[in-house]
Amino acid sequence: MNVGGIELEHPIMLASGIMGMSASSLIRIAHSGASAVVTKSVGLEPREGYPNPSFVSLDVGFLNAMGLPNPSVSVFSEEINSVREEGIVVIASIYGSCEEEFVKVATQLYPNAFELNLSCPHIKGYGAELGSDPERVEHIVASVKDVVDVPVWAKLTPNVADICEIGMAAQKGGADAVVAINTVRAMAIDIESGHPVLGNVIGGLSGKAIKPVGVRCVYELYKEVDIPIIGVGGI
Ligand SMILES: Cc1cc2nc3c(=O)[nH]c(=O)nc-3n(C[C@H](O)[C@H](O)[C@H](O)COP(=O)(O)O)c2cc1C
Repeated sequence: MNVGGIELEHPIMLASGIMGMSASSLIRIAHSGASAVVTKSVGLEPREGYPNPSFVSLDVGFLNAMGLPNPSVSVFSEEINSVREEGIVVIASIYGSCEEEFVKVATQLYPNAFELNLSCPHIKGYGAELGSDPERVEHIVASVKDVVDVPVWAKLTPNVADICEIGMAAQKGGADAVVAINTVRAMAIDIESGHPVLGNVIGGLSGKAIKPVGVRCVYELYKEVDIPIIGVGGI
């Protein structure tokens, strides 16, 4: 079947950020049955990420603020090549602070498709900050499309008033698919200590609690956009 411009055996893929930082884990997940693997988001410079606790289990799901830890695109490109050598379909998730940065990252990688992280909810100047502005979304998608010859997907944030406006902007920029949703901006406080549970205080909620949010976003997008929608959230 064709999913967002690439041929897959079935539509079940690994979401970005879940054990997606090394070739060995990506290969293991593909061999466990995923039709494609999306990498952890990678950027131009290495990032250590936020201090711990960065991932906390709650009654309703999970809260995380990893802070986009990654070794940088120049180091990570080899991991992607090793996964592709196994015949596995790899989608490279990339982030940047502007069009130029996205382009610099994209041109160093050779995946089957790109997923643009326009949706991480807790990093100043990246992710959802760009992904909440339709004009920037359109321009970022268009500039990556200009320099690569594989499909480009835009991963959307649910933390906006109108996700369709952002989906339409991605489509206008030439996106081959939209991916919905990234985590829901959230925070939890430990009532015994009185302190926030995350090192970064604010993070993103994932898991069971957000499935109705994801379903609502996919439903709203389906009514407006003409490109494929890849559903994530609550799984
Ligand atoms: C620990 C963790 C790290 C994540 N890292 C990324 C990331 O690097 N890039 C990205 O686009 N999404 C990232 N996500 C978001 C997931 O890909 C997914 O959109 C979100 O978790 C909602 O799906 P789920 O409820 O099924 O987990 C991350 C999620 C978690 C829990």
